Order: sequence, then structure tokens, then C-alpha cells
Amino acid sequence: MKIDESKLDSIINEYNGEKGSLISILQDIQAQYQYLPREAMDHVAKRLKIPRVQVFGVATFFKAFSLKPKGKQQIHVCMGTACHVRGSRMVLEELERKLGIKAGDTTADNEYTLETVNCVGACALGPVVVKNEEYRGQMTPIKVESLLGSKKT
Ligand code: FES
Repeated sequence: MKIDESKLDSIINEYNGEKGSLISILQDIQAQYQYLPREAMDHVAKRLKIPRVQVFGVATFFKAFSLKPKGKQQIHVCMGTACHVRGSRMVLEELERKLGIKAGDTTADNEYTLETVNCVGACALGPVVVKNEEYRGQMTPIKVESLLGSKKT
């Protein structure tokens, strides 16, 4: 992936290139690209004059960071207890089947990323699927089709 280094530099400069701001810098880069491209992390290491392994260590330690590209549309299936007992596993399996990917992956066209989460705080609506931050309650495998819109099977 081609990285715009001037964009990275302006993020790094906002924090005066301080080593102690590594996490904030990575957060801002992820907000820009929806994930942390390897080239961006290399550039941060160079600019902050810290070992690459340190940048990668932070990026892999915090769950909030993603090292894989994300799709334009994010689908999170709640696998918390309340949703699980109401059949969220079947909803997840139907999404995996329709999208042709497993949870944690992104479709080859970069359209969808499918992930699981544990309780999104709407247990009464379970099973819950969150599509692009929009909550969909009482999901069933049959409703998956309309959730995905015009996505073909
Ligand atoms: S368990 Fe799914 S919202 Fe709480």
C-alpha cells in the first residue's frame, strides 16, 4: 500500500514527534486508514527514532488496533451470553456463508469486515448485530439477506 508520508508527518508533528505519544499517534493513523498499514508503522518508528519492534509491539498489544485492512462496511455479531442463547451463532454462520469469509476477515473486494464482539449492552434486543454502528436487534439467519442489502450470495 502506498502511504502518504506527509499525512503521517503532520500527525506525528501534532505530537511534536514525542516517543511518549506513540499510542496517540497510532490511534490517529488508524482513524485515517481504518487500520495500521505496515509502511505507516515503519515510518513512525523512523520518525520517533524507536525500534520497529516497539511500534509493532504496541500495535499488537492493544486490541483496539488492527493490522489488517478493514472493509467499507463493518459487521459485528454479538456473541455475549444473552445473544448466544438466542441463536447468534446461527446468525454468524449465515453471515459467514453469505460473505464467504470467517469472523475476523474482510471480503476480497474490501466491502465487508465481519467480527464478533462480547455484549454490546443491548441484551434485551438479542441476538444483536451492529452494522456500521447501527444496532439491529432480534436478528435471525433469514434477516441476514436484508442486512446485507443487495450483496449477492
Ligand atoms: S449479550 Fe449481546 S447485547 Fe448483551
